[in-house]
Amino acid sequence: MNLTELNRVATALVVPGKGILAADESSGTIKKRFDAIGVDSTEESRRDYREMLFRSTEAMNRYISGVILYDETIWQDAKDGTPLVKLIESSGAIPGIKVDEGTQALPMCPGETITVGLDRLAERLKKYYERGARFAKWRAVIDIGSGIPSMTAISVNAHALARYAALCQAAQIVPIVEPEVLMDGDHDIDRCYEVTQRVLNKTFQELRIQRVALEGMVLKPNMAISGKKSPKQASVEEVAEKTIRLLKACVPAAVPGIAFLSGGQSDEEATAHLNAMHKLGPLPWGLTFSYGRALQAAPQKAWSGKAENVAAGQSAFSHRARMNGLASKGEWQSSLEQKAD
Ligand code: 13P
Repeated sequence: MNLTELNRVATALVVPGKGILAADESSGTIKKRFDAIGVDSTEESRRDYREMLFRSTEAMNRYISGVILYDETIWQDAKDGTPLVKLIESSGAIPGIKVDEGTQALPMCPGETITVGLDRLAERLKKYYERGARFAKWRAVIDIGSGIPSMTAISVNAHALARYAALCQAAQIVPIVEPEVLMDGDHDIDRCYEVTQRVLNKTFQELRIQRVALEGMVLKPNMAISGKKSPKQASVEEVAEKTIRLLKACVPAAVPGIAFLSGGQSDEEATAHLNAMHKLGPLPWGLTFSYGRALQAAPQKAWSGKAENVAAGQSAFSHRARMNGLASKGEWQSSLEQKAD
């Protein structure tokens, strides 16, 4: 393992002004997104859509540090035969790969899941590295509800995250460690804070036990935020203040960077929260976005599967990427949103 190189890649992913495009929706998830815009999900339409994003020169060159791909996409070529990975590399962004294989029911723990995909991971990582991937992602899912999460779910998911991270580093790939506490429930922000704290503490304990080099990883957490169905919605300032307090308490300064998931926040909320956190600096780690929905909802809608809408889709993507790029430096203002289009 070359830790200097892992650290260089991890640091490049969270460089101020840029963040990660999470374009790694599984075939099932992208079908749901396409259904919402009335587009048939085929290998070709998925390729066309992602090619549109990766050819968005302004967004990719200026605001995107890395792209997380799904297995199908990393092997796909653009319409003109150029591998999609090459399009990403030529924009200066780093290709990455989602390597978990989704969740399964966790035995003895009703309503909870364990993320799977460790079997043969070492061999898969080798192939992904040869194809150009320099970082990977594994998502653990923790739900908040009555009587959950259990310590069992937190513990086995943290163990799997650390197993994955160690295998990545041995394969010279930077692991993005993503323990996502869902925001789907009716819990308030303080309950989210308390659960996320337990999850992060357990995750870092496992990372240490399994000898993962913190300098060569990126953390992808949820923010401390109110559940979507909670009647008590925390303000932007409260989300920013509590998230930073939580991360400072749980994430060692040796970690080069933190890149948030958007998790179901609206586009503008996800941007405003990141921006507000940067007003609370200086921070001990790089802090940026690794958004899926909050970067792609607008371009998906603008594109709607039509070749004549590619320019509109790219312009919607560039706008969101720029807004989040500014937020990653604390330089975003809501008035910039109104100037869109
Ligand atoms: P969202 O930003 O849509 O939550 O997706 C990010 C991601 O990569 C989830 O694993």
